[in-house]
This record gives sequence, C-alpha cells and structure tokens, in this order.
Amino acid sequence: MFPRAFFLAALALGAAAVPSRRAMAVHESRADPRGFVNTGAASSDTEITLRIQMAHTNMAGLEELAYDIATPSSANYGNHLTVDELTDFVKPTEATSSAVLEWLSENNIESTVISPAGDTLSITIPVSQANELLDTTFSVFSHLDSGKTMIRTLAYSIPTSLQGHIDLVYPTLSFVRPQAIPKFTSHKSRREVKRDIEQRMIVHEGRAVPSSCTETITPTCLQDIYGIPSAPGTQASNSLAVSGFIEQFANQADLKEFLTSFRPDIPSSTTFKLQTVDGGSNPQTRSEAGIEANLDTQYTVGVATGVPTSFISVGENNADGLDGFLDIINFLIKGPTRPLVLSTSYGFDEDELTLSEVTSLCNAYMQLGSLGTSILFSSGDGGVSGSQSQSCTTFIPTAPSGCPFVTSVGATQGFPETAASFSSGGFSNFFPTPSFQSADVASFLSKLGNTNSGKFNASGRGFPDVSFQGVNFEIAFDTEEGTVDGTSCSSPSFASVIALINDKLLAQGSSPLGFLNPFLYSTGRSALNDITSGDNPGCNTNGFSAGTGWDPVTGLGTPNFAALLAAAGA
Ligand SMILES: *[C@@H]1O[C@H](CO)[C@@H](O)[C@H](O)[C@H]1NC(C)=O
Repeated sequence: MFPRAFFLAALALGAAAVPSRRAMAVHESRADPRGFVNTGAASSDTEITLRIQMAHTNMAGLEELAYDIATPSSANYGNHLTVDELTDFVKPTEATSSAVLEWLSENNIESTVISPAGDTLSITIPVSQANELLDTTFSVFSHLDSGKTMIRTLAYSIPTSLQGHIDLVYPTLSFVRPQAIPKFTSHKSRREVKRDIEQRMIVHEGRAVPSSCTETITPTCLQDIYGIPSAPGTQASNSLAVSGFIEQFANQADLKEFLTSFRPDIPSSTTFKLQTVDGGSNPQTRSEAGIEANLDTQYTVGVATGVPTSFISVGENNADGLDGFLDIINFLIKGPTRPLVLSTSYGFDEDELTLSEVTSLCNAYMQLGSLGTSILFSSGDGGVSGSQSQSCTTFIPTAPSGCPFVTSVGATQGFPETAASFSSGGFSNFFPTPSFQSADVASFLSKLGNTNSGKFNASGRGFPDVSFQGVNFEIAFDTEEGTVDGTSCSSPSFASVIALINDKLLAQGSSPLGFLNPFLYSTGRSALNDITSGDNPGCNTNGFSAGTGWDPVTGLGTPNFAALLAAAGA
C-alpha cells in the first residue's frame, strides 16, 4: 500500500504547483505511412510550426449554398458569394475562438491568424512543448526513396473541452512524398517531321485535323481537335491562373520560343503575370526552368488566347506540401487577384494525408468555388495505382481529385480519342459519391459487376470528371523543343477552354462558370465527347475501362467547344 499512497501524495503536490492538466482525448491517428521509416524521437528543442484549424460557423450551410449556386436549374445559379458573405460561414464562432485562445494562453503560446476568415491559427513552439500540448511524441520520419525527413507523429490528442472547437492540428499525420513531374523528351528534327506529314488531314468529330497532330500535339492541334477558337478573348476582367510548387519556375524566354513555333498568329511577347505565395519566386535563368511550370504556362497562354493569365509560384515558407496547397487558396480567397479559373498539375495520393486534412483542403476549394473560381486538377499519372506508377494491392485514389469541389481532369490520346493508360481514376476513400454523379457512378458500377471487387471503395466519389488530350505535347524547355505526356498536359488545357467560355459569358454580362461539376454532369454533359475505349492499368490489374457514359478513366469525356459554349448559355 505504501508506494501507492506515496504516489497519490506526490500527485497532489504536483497539482498545487502547476495548473491542472486538462483531460485529453486522441483526436486523430493513422496507420504507418507507406514508404517512410521512423528514425526516433525529434529533439526536444527543435522548433516546429503547427496550424490549428478551428471549427467554422456553418460549413454545412456553405456546402448547401455552394451546390445551389453551381446548379444550372437553380434560381440561384451563378450568384457567387462575396468575400464578406463567405466569411460569415467560415469564421469560427466567438465561443470557439475564445476556447482555443484560452487553451493557448494557458500554455503561454502566441498564435498568428493565417486565413482570411480567421479560422486558422499558426503557432511555433519547441517539440517538447508540442509533445506536451498534444499528448504525443513527435518523431523524425525519413522517406526511404528520397531520404527526405520530416517531424510527424502517428496520433495526437486535444483537450476534451475543445472537441467540436478544433477540426485538426497539422502537419501532424501527413506524410507527403516528393511530387513527380512529367518527363521531357527533347527532339531536334520536329520541323522536318512535321513538314513531311503536314499535307494530310484527318477527320475527328467532324472537324479536319492535320495528321501531324497524330505525332505531336500543339495548341493549334487542340484548336482543331476540340473546335477551340484562335481569336483572342476580349474581356480584361477575365483571368486564368496555374499554380507552381516545388520550385518549378516558368520561363518567359521558353514561352516566347514556344509561341513563335506554335502560335505564330499571336504576338510572341504574350506572357503571364507572376504572383507569389509563401516566399515563392520565379527566377528567369533559362536552365532553372521547370518542365511542369513551362508546360502549364505554355498551354494556358498558348490556348486561352488573349485571356489574362498568371503563374502563382508557391515557395517553401510552409511546413509541408499540404500547407502550401492551403496557403495558395487562402491567398486567392483574400483577393484582390482571384482568378476565375485555377489549374493545378500537382497532387497527392489520398493515403499521404488524413481524412481531416483532405477535408480541410476540400473546404478551401468549396470556399474558392463559391466565390466564382473554377478549380481544375490533373487526376494523376499512375492509372489506378495513384499519382504515379507504384506497387499496390488495392487501388490508390489521388487527392485532391476525390474532393467533389474540384474538377478532376484525366488524359486521352489519338484519333479517335482513347484513354491514355497512365490516366489516374477511381474512387475516393474519404469522400462519398456526391449527388451530382450518383446516377453515373451507379450505372458504371452495375456494368462493372465483380471486376476489381474489393480493390476500390464503391461508395466513394468517382474521378476524373472530364478528360483531354495528354500525350506528346510539344513544349519549349531550356532552349529546346520536345514532348511531355501526362494529365499535367490535360488540366491546364481544359482550364483554358473554361477560361475562353468565361470570356464569352463575361462579354454578355453573365456570371463566370465557377464550381463546374454540377454544370458538367447536367446541362454540360451533352457538350462532352464520350470516350469509350482504353483503360488505366495498375496494381497488377487492367484497372478500369472506359465505356459508354461516365467512367473512372476518362470521366464524362473531352470538350466540344461550340457545344459547351451553348450549354453554358453563351
Ligand atoms: C469508403 O467510402 C466511404 C464514403 O466516403 C467511407 O465512409 C468509408 O470509410 C470508406 N471505406 C474505406 C475502407 O476507406
């Protein structure tokens, strides 16, 4: 008995000396991350920056409204919110912010507000204090393939009194692997190749397309294939942006060379504006150009003729890849340079992140979409194995393609168009099938029968939503010309189509398209060419197959510009 009594006495003494500890409960935990190894506890005096995402005043109400204003049959269609209206939904309640601030001040922690609605706080504290605050042990994890290390944990707690006030604390359980970028295949003899075959024309969807487009894709090929106009847009208030991460820089001289070769009908001085977030930059040394950044800027400036275009470079002043993804959205929500269309050719495998992290990201896209921005993402380049080819036993959905508020773009190739085999598609494990696609998903699943059964989540959100050519795209890179493949080609190009449709909508005084999916799955559907062949193998299977109607390889299909314009009411 003696040791026990002694222990209790010691506890009582301790309680008198320090403020009573709050009751804690595990808030989030995760399984061991694929591809990482725990190399031991993080040193206690290392400072880490954590973000606290507080609960919102009314996210469910915002979600309902976001769908309403994006649904063509609604009386409210196109009535995008103002930032003030948005803030009323997103800001934390008084009770939430005072409860969270009291907890931090009790621990002598100062915080900074880092989101426009005040719902996200940033704190920088030593590991020892973070361990105590969240009742956890932060460790150093190493990514086996790259050697990249990060301080993370597999579970953390928050005071039970703050349950319902805190959505999540991050980065805690995210294990973001290095982003993959498309490979560039340089070629020197393109012009000769092209001259040989340029004489012939082939017919695609009733339009004449030069046979050179079967060899390599250029902006003029895309104009011919999809009926995209070459005439410049006329609306100065129109805008299109591409995001840049991982120090991928977009080179102006490469763009000029690209336009000279592939859009000789527009001034080769046509360019993009630079915006920066998190200390981003865009140095112009030619050898520092990034394949992804060049591809994204060349296929927006080169396809969305005359549309004011920005390259948004997100720097490394954030704790991990996920933070940068959130920071760019908060930056755009705040304005004043919010684009009407945003394309991103970077992403994650869903299992790199947790449900609450992906939900936070998806909430941010919902907010930006409700302000009137169309958000497009490449679906990934690993077929059903995720963002890149990798070994797997069950299919790996990509993120944020599983978020219903983004439009996920897969890749096609050739004439007639067929699915590109690398085009990622499948079903989210985090987001349920949204109502706008539930009939399509049900119809696909009934045709699928038992194929791939147990390898994917049949109640998840299906992706991609649409597709676009994505193989053998000509780009200029580091003074050379050559080709790249990937859904990274498809997303900025599809985004350019949406920007050109917005141009016509703005010209007639209509609202821009904003959050696209409810439109695409209803009135927009007939304006998309259904792609019915090809599949997306991975995880030692043939993956899914494209077929009649929506499928998780090519989505609803590729655009027919004139029909899409009519469907949009322009
Ligand atoms: C499948 O998706 C549903 C809907 O999003 C989700 O609730 C469920 O947890 C998922 N199952 C698995 C095994 O991930």
